[in-house]
Amino acid sequence: MPGIKGPSEYSREPTRHPSLVINSKQPFNAEPPRSALVTSYVTPVDFFYKRNHGPIPVVDDIERYSVSLNGLIETPKELTMRDIRSLPKYSVAATLQCAGNRRTAMSKVKTVKGVGWGISAIGNAVWGGAKLADVLELVGIPKFTAATKSGGKHVEFVSIDKCKEENGGPYKASIPLFQATNPDADVLLAYEMNGECLNRDHGYPLRVVVPGVIGARSVKWLDSINILANECQGFFMQKDYKMFPPSVNWDNIDWSTRRPQMDFPVQSAICSLEDLTIMKQPGKVRVSGYAVSGGGRGIERVDVSMDGGKTWVEATRYQKPGISYVSDDTNSDKWAWVLFEATVDVPHSVEIVAKAVDSAANVQPESVQEIWNLRGVLNTSWHQVQLRVGHSNL
Ligand code: MTE
Repeated sequence: MPGIKGPSEYSREPTRHPSLVINSKQPFNAEPPRSALVTSYVTPVDFFYKRNHGPIPVVDDIERYSVSLNGLIETPKELTMRDIRSLPKYSVAATLQCAGNRRTAMSKVKTVKGVGWGISAIGNAVWGGAKLADVLELVGIPKFTAATKSGGKHVEFVSIDKCKEENGGPYKASIPLFQATNPDADVLLAYEMNGECLNRDHGYPLRVVVPGVIGARSVKWLDSINILANECQGFFMQKDYKMFPPSVNWDNIDWSTRRPQMDFPVQSAICSLEDLTIMKQPGKVRVSGYAVSGGGRGIERVDVSMDGGKTWVEATRYQKPGISYVSDDTNSDKWAWVLFEATVDVPHSVEIVAKAVDSAANVQPESVQEIWNLRGVLNTSWHQVQLRVGHSNL
């Protein structure tokens, strides 16, 4: 790729906000303090989690940057940033969540492999860019195509970065062609995040955003797009980011038995309180957090319990000020999280729990044991925090 000095060493990493919690330095993996997530519906770029598998590439000559479209298409093409910017621009509010979000809590039940994450490997941004469906039309693939004449059924995204899991090769992933060519799936080639030019950490100059799907498929630093007969055979599609049952361990694992994970399940977490918060005396407490579901399913309800899940109250949910949130309503951002809040009276020490229900009535599982898996992905169990009043233990 001309104009790209890669792979850049870790010495050329961008500067980041000092309050990020760093889970690994090289590659750089960090999440904001949980309280930062509920200060605004749109997560500021500085506080958006950063998930990398290699050094951040340097694209120093944007004039010479291009994305190639190859594979099972009649006319392969090179697209410059100018070509991509000349397509209609869309702004899509979408929550990106790493499949490893809340992995640390899963690890407490039984060790899992992977970078440890608290509850903040998630963020909600307004992504600006071209629809992949429009880009694919430029190479003769019409909207709503499940298979091309030459048998292409998957769209692979290949990055510029270099990862050790790919033996020094680039990060890559794919999505089904039907999703890629469906304009309503809102898959973007994004060059903006929250109205600003995408920064290096988040994929400058161009990244894929696949709304409603685990973050792993939203490939950053896009280099090429390939139309394939089969899904991408890369490490992160075939040997990672798959959900196994609790019975599978590193001695009996057969990766080929599971599909690559795509949509994420219903999720919520309390962000206004730490795992253990001490209150000097009884009083009112504001419980707030995020709730989101994959596949464009809205959040129907968020329940909050003050007694570890025996009794519940319903929290209010919101996205934009002044517009009440109704799941499935056309005014609601279908790919984005809702923030929730409930003000509760706390008479003594309590265990506060939140659980969300999506528009298909999917509910978060109660305990992490029932969804434990060796890679520690998709921990969506009820999120619980302790509120201790004075010195009492209950
Ligand atoms: N794309 C490339 N090229 N390299 C990566 O390491 N990580 C993926 C995805 N895209 C990754 C990538 C994963 S696992 C996630 S969760 C998201 O990017 C994180 O995006 P963010 O760092 O912008 O939050």
